Amino acid sequence: MLEIKNLQVKLEEEDKQILKGVDLTVEAGKVHAIMGPNGSGKSTLSYVLSGKDGYTVTDGSATLDGVDLLEMEPEDRAAAGLFLAFQYPVEIPGVGNMTFLRTAVNAQRKARGQEEMSSTEFLKVVREKAASLKIDAEMLKRPVNVGFSGGEKKRNEILQMAMLEPKMCILDETDSGLDVDAMRLVADGVNALRDEGRGFLVITHYQRLLDHIKPDVVHIMSNGRIVKTGGPELALEVEQNGYADLVEEA
Ligand SMILES: Nc1ncnc2c1ncn2[C@@H]1O[C@H](COP(=O)(O)OP(=O)(O)O)[C@@H](O)[C@H]1O
Ligand SMILES: [Mg+2]
Repeated sequence: MLEIKNLQVKLEEEDKQILKGVDLTVEAGKVHAIMGPNGSGKSTLSYVLSGKDGYTVTDGSATLDGVDLLEMEPEDRAAAGLFLAFQYPVEIPGVGNMTFLRTAVNAQRKARGQEEMSSTEFLKVVREKAASLKIDAEMLKRPVNVGFSGGEKKRNEILQMAMLEPKMCILDETDSGLDVDAMRLVADGVNALRDEGRGFLVITHYQRLLDHIKPDVVHIMSNGRIVKTGGPELALEVEQNGYADLVEEA
């Protein structure tokens, strides 16, 4: 599904190499986790895949179901089924959360040649999904993320994901800053979307989220590369021994 080969990326503004040859394949139906020390390039990878400005791809490729992602505009990547839950969700003053969600859902439907969702249907679906994430009606009316707590912002990212039903979901440290209850809501939201047609890339610094979202494969990223790949036991090894040994070994 998502296939990344020898991806090398530097900053546009300065001659600094951030990704130094990332190889990664996420198959449909699988949950892959990426763990790694701060500054290893995890967020950069998610940004480059989703099309954020400021990075230059110097080598390698990234495709979603065989389609080259790197040449596409961000909105076309989204329409193709790629979704990123941000490590630091953005506040959008003046744009109601509900309006934002509805516009996003219908823009994607339109891009895929599908019919728009009616207001009645949209309301029904959004209320149902919001309730399961304990997002109340008030939060749906407020401007996107404005004045939301850290945990509310993260849950709102998962609501976006639940509404868009993307093919390939990337979550960048969606667990950071969450208390145990909020983390469980987020994990439940992710688990509810697990499906044989959908892939997940769950980026996390700590192992604890992976107690709730059981990954099929765990990768360790360090200094712009994936230095080790294994099963869920790799995450437990990190929990016990930290990253130092793994990084040194690499
Ligand atoms: N826009 C930027 N300007 C300067 N340095 C950056 C920029 N984006 C990323 N970096 C650097 O790239 C490295 C990787 O960052 P990041 O992808 O955020 O790592 P992670 O998410 O694994 O903590 C870090 O050393 C970071 O300082
Ligand atoms: Mg990061």
